[in-house]
Amino acid sequence: MSTMEVAQLPILTERDIALSRQGIREAAVECGFGLTDVTRIVTAASELSRNIFLYAGTGLVTWRLLSGSRVGIEITFTDEGPGIDDLDKAMQPGYTSGRGMGMGLPGAKRLMDEMEVHSTPGVGTTIVVRKWLQQSYA
Ligand SMILES: Nc1ncnc2c1ncn2[C@@H]1O[C@H](COP(=O)(O)OP(=O)(O)OP(=O)(O)O)[C@@H](O)[C@H]1O
Ligand SMILES: [Mg+2]
Repeated sequence: MSTMEVAQLPILTERDIALSRQGIREAAVECGFGLTDVTRIVTAASELSRNIFLYAGTGLVTWRLLSGSRVGIEITFTDEGPGIDDLDKAMQPGYTSGRGMGMGLPGAKRLMDEMEVHSTPGVGTTIVVRKWLQQSYA
């Protein structure tokens, strides 16, 4: 994947969660992340893909490498599901509207460097996460 390329994967079935993990893992390795950060990125992506599957049914995951003064990866999760009524509540560790642990959203925020959540009830949800490569000048 070159820096200008965007990869995308629709989330239609549960299997697509695994496929998105795989593609994002490869992109993160290619970006230069070490194993620990690759695992963080893939774990966050997996939670957010699973949320699409569970709460919206279907959606789209896109990812791209970021280059310039900083190198990193950006992943966008978008769906046209029910949206999130109370974002502050949803971001609290332990809050779930279902039978989850309520750790997906707060966990993803902790694992990534940046996370933006845009959600409109009745319209859908878009979440953008980024992680930056810590450049080594040794
Ligand atoms: N894409 C989404 N569309 C609609 N609602 C969502 C979406 N993602 C999360 N939510 C809402 O936010 C709540 C919190 O999500 P979070 O991922 O933190 O926990 P969970 O999915 O309930 O449990 P866990 O992820 O720990 O198994 C969910 O219970 C759900 O109500
Ligand atoms: Mg979840």
